Amino acid sequence: MSRTVLRGRVLSFHRAPNSIEDSDSYLYIEDAAVLIEDGAIVWVGAFAEAESSGAVIIDHRPNLIMAGFIDLHLHYVQSQIMAAYAGSLLEWLNNYTFIEEQKFAQQGHADAVAVDFYDALIRHGTTTAVAYCSSHPRSVDAFFAEAQRRNMLMVGGKVMMDRNAPEGLLDTAQSSYDDTKALIARWHKRGRGLYAISPRFAITSTPEQMGMAQALVLEHDDCHIQTHLSENDREISFSMELYPDAVDYTGIYEMYDLLTPRTLLGHSIHLNHRETEALAASGAVAVFCPTSNLFLGSGLFDRERLLERGVRIGLATDIGGGTSFSMLRTMDEGYKILQLRGQRFNPLASFHLATRGNAEALGLADTIGSVAPGRAADLIVLDAQATPTMRMRMATVETLVEELFLLQTLGDDRAIAEVYVAGARAKSTLGGL
Ligand code: GUN
Ligand code: ZN
Repeated sequence: MSRTVLRGRVLSFHRAPNSIEDSDSYLYIEDAAVLIEDGAIVWVGAFAEAESSGAVIIDHRPNLIMAGFIDLHLHYVQSQIMAAYAGSLLEWLNNYTFIEEQKFAQQGHADAVAVDFYDALIRHGTTTAVAYCSSHPRSVDAFFAEAQRRNMLMVGGKVMMDRNAPEGLLDTAQSSYDDTKALIARWHKRGRGLYAISPRFAITSTPEQMGMAQALVLEHDDCHIQTHLSENDREISFSMELYPDAVDYTGIYEMYDLLTPRTLLGHSIHLNHRETEALAASGAVAVFCPTSNLFLGSGLFDRERLLERGVRIGLATDIGGGTSFSMLRTMDEGYKILQLRGQRFNPLASFHLATRGNAEALGLADTIGSVAPGRAADLIVLDAQATPTMRMRMATVETLVEELFLLQTLGDDRAIAEVYVAGARAKSTLGGL
């Protein structure tokens, strides 16, 4: 049995903080030990009590040990088209995205991008992500095979899309059903892999394909579901033209029973009152994608209104509409979006969301998202003095909350000093850094 103790300052959330003063919402230990056995956390407490445990000690002082970040929505097949110069969503999809994703018909390409994608996640401190693959089953094979090699808990699936895209990306209602079934059999709950049934969005799925997605969800009720909702004005009006019987955009997904507590709805920006109520009633998760929403000019997520109505919320990069793999950069841009809405997004809330909050959104809070016994040792070590600018600001930082805010406002991959995946060092062991 391998036993390791990580020494450092530990921060882990028990629940969402009610305010910036809510110190009951988290555990913070100034000189802590995290005891790891065979990839799992078995004990967390004061270092003085663990000194004689006989384990190998890795000293990360004065850095902060937290649960690894969880990214609730991104497209691994868009890793190579981040920062594509495009206007709004539909132009960006047609001019860059749909062209790029056709390359994933080739296994060699999918395998190579998957390696770079996981390297990027690890560099940025993300230990679990929920990803869209392309419509080609082999892109899903590459995604899960590489996750398995790295022992990472990853959620993903083949996008189902049978219209309004180039021929090279289109499946059919039947083939998307057959391919998804085969992929679930091959990858769901294999190692740490979890499958997400992934109709891309209303525009690229015929009613027949939505019916197939509905059947898949019925037959595999332990899989997640992911799609896009209400990101852009033209997307919304086109969707309503394609589904004239639906009451609104959310109503399209409701018609096919796709709103469940396992459903992740990327963007969810321009929702009317009825849609907000429908999300709350279903338990589906609205996924906030700040850098993407700013980059594509999609709109300003209304966190406060959704929370007031009881909608569950997650946080994500949405690579490659998003402009950074970093959840720190994502929190920062999220903070700025909410500033524009006159809403406050305090650093306890954003760090909670990127760790335990996203784990709860996935229904996986017993497994990941906390530094606590019984959880996987998927951990990050944060260095708030990673750059000269951060060091300069740290000179006046006095509280944990100030330090967190500094990390999210000025930090990026350089602030991720180390990453552990199931107890194994993953960042310092990356090649070619
Ligand atoms: N809506 C449908 N597909 C996509 C995508 O790939 N990215 C974003 N941002 N929105 C989408
Ligand atoms: Zn997306």
